[in-house]
Amino acid sequence: MDLLLLVLLGFWLMLPSFLPNSAAVVFGGGMPVDLGRSWNGKRLLGDGKTWRGLIGGICAGISLGILELYIAFPFDDIDFFGFGEFPSNMGVVVALAVGSLLGDMAGSFVKRRLDIGRGDKAPIMDQYTFLLGSFVLVLLAYPGWFIDTFWNDYGWISLLAVLVITPILHRGVNIIGYKMGLKKVPW
Ligand code: CTP
Ligand code: MG
Repeated sequence: MDLLLLVLLGFWLMLPSFLPNSAAVVFGGGMPVDLGRSWNGKRLLGDGKTWRGLIGGICAGISLGILELYIAFPFDDIDFFGFGEFPSNMGVVVALAVGSLLGDMAGSFVKRRLDIGRGDKAPIMDQYTFLLGSFVLVLLAYPGWFIDTFWNDYGWISLLAVLVITPILHRGVNIIGYKMGLKKVPW
């Protein structure tokens, strides 16, 4: 397969993981997921992780994934442009979206333990924890799909592309969010 196609495939397949982060900024606010609780004097997750952001973000990611399956169906009703056969492709979409914000919360949990304040910069972690969450959840739920897609037969090129695209996209989208007044900081 063409190099460009492998890069595009990685991006296409990870959209249900990418969108929840931005959607959480739009939907977020209100009651924090940790309900304000602390552990050893430090917040569990902090005020940056809210129920509205979590649920809105997951719903947005799943909706986008379902839209992608709809787009793919008329052209490829076997593999759905890489998501795999129905109905497991729905499961993959859910795992990507849910894993994304679970990973993001795990990142905040670690940041709070390290005394990094809500919204303060944590390079690498800020850009990659959500991706790691998606990968871990998909690997647990659909290991065969993950290995076939992101490792076997040059699939690792798609994986590499995702690893390179993610921090660039994350930074770009956050700058846009900051300029639009949706985010307090451009990272
Ligand atoms: N957000 C939310 N709920 C989530 C995730 C994000 O409401 N589950 C919203 C919050 O308004 C948050 C913003 O999206 O401030 C940006 O998300 P993120 O950068 O992940 O949070 P931070 O504020 O940087 O907090 P942390 O330091 O814990 O990562
Ligand atoms: Mg942040």
